[in-house]
Amino acid sequence: MRLVSITKQKQISETMILVTGAAGQIGTELVSELRQRHGPQNVLAGRHKTPLPEEIASSGPSEIVDVTNLDQLKAIVQSHNVTRIFHLSSILSALAESNIHAAHQVNINGVFNILTVALEANVEQVIIPSSIAAFGADTPRESTPNDTIQRPSTTYGISKVFTELMGNYFYTRFKLDVRGLRLPGVLSWKTEPTAGTTDYAVAMFYGAIAHNKYECYLGPDTILPMMYMPDAIKSLLDLSTASINTLSHHSDFNVHAMSFTPSELASAIKKINPQFSITYNVDPLRQSIADSWPSSLDDSAARKEWGWQPDFDMAALVNDMYSNLEDKLK
Ligand code: SER
Repeated sequence: MRLVSITKQKQISETMILVTGAAGQIGTELVSELRQRHGPQNVLAGRHKTPLPEEIASSGPSEIVDVTNLDQLKAIVQSHNVTRIFHLSSILSALAESNIHAAHQVNINGVFNILTVALEANVEQVIIPSSIAAFGADTPRESTPNDTIQRPSTTYGISKVFTELMGNYFYTRFKLDVRGLRLPGVLSWKTEPTAGTTDYAVAMFYGAIAHNKYECYLGPDTILPMMYMPDAIKSLLDLSTASINTLSHHSDFNVHAMSFTPSELASAIKKINPQFSITYNVDPLRQSIADSWPSSLDDSAARKEWGWQPDFDMAALVNDMYSNLEDKLK
């Protein structure tokens, strides 16, 4: 944290946190939590094309941030004296396959721009989520080790391996404090996700509440790692505040909370809404992406190095998600 001397005896720390992708599924909730912790004026919500929800736009500062534009990014970071960046802008797995050029611009050039600007502007810490997509079909699928074979077959996954390696490189070469973790599918009810492969899980709740039915684009037995949003936010904040002295890894931590299949999720939802029914219409592209990803992760490095522990299991997630989304959609 940057220290500003106000008297000879007393020092205060001055923090300005930039969140890119602040209009996204994770960004909206991370900005709210950071504004509660650090004060609304100290959290800058960076968005690009998607407008910010009203509560984020009105509760603190915001900027249009194009991470592919190095000069514009640098001007924003410098003019706001940004000290910490949560870089969440990203084109997720399914959407990236339909526009690999845009995905390369945002997910690879954008990450490199963020790291370059952070270094030049003396930003103290950069957090960039990676993903289970950083693994591939050659990776051990069950209890995937933290450090293992990574040969992803998707453009999104390739960009996440780049992000992990470049983050570790900026730490080793320039001592820039870059940290990251591999998020699984994240379920939440506040901001709807749309571009990922794991998003069927959120869409199933919307279908169950609005229409008592859902047609799933993944097969019934496709098992994938998942996490509830409060745990995803906790993981990012706990990693950010961990003492650097306890970290052996930096940009590439596995984190695990639960794994389930579409059919298991449908059964859990049916217990709350007995009228709910699921059908399957498999999309070969998204199925092949899901089949190349781990079914569960060994997150012992995160547990040991910064105390990672999730709060929500599947039953707690399903109950909380269903009742909050039902209230929201009423
Ligand atoms: N949830 C992401 C996706 O499906 C994985 O990180 O693209």
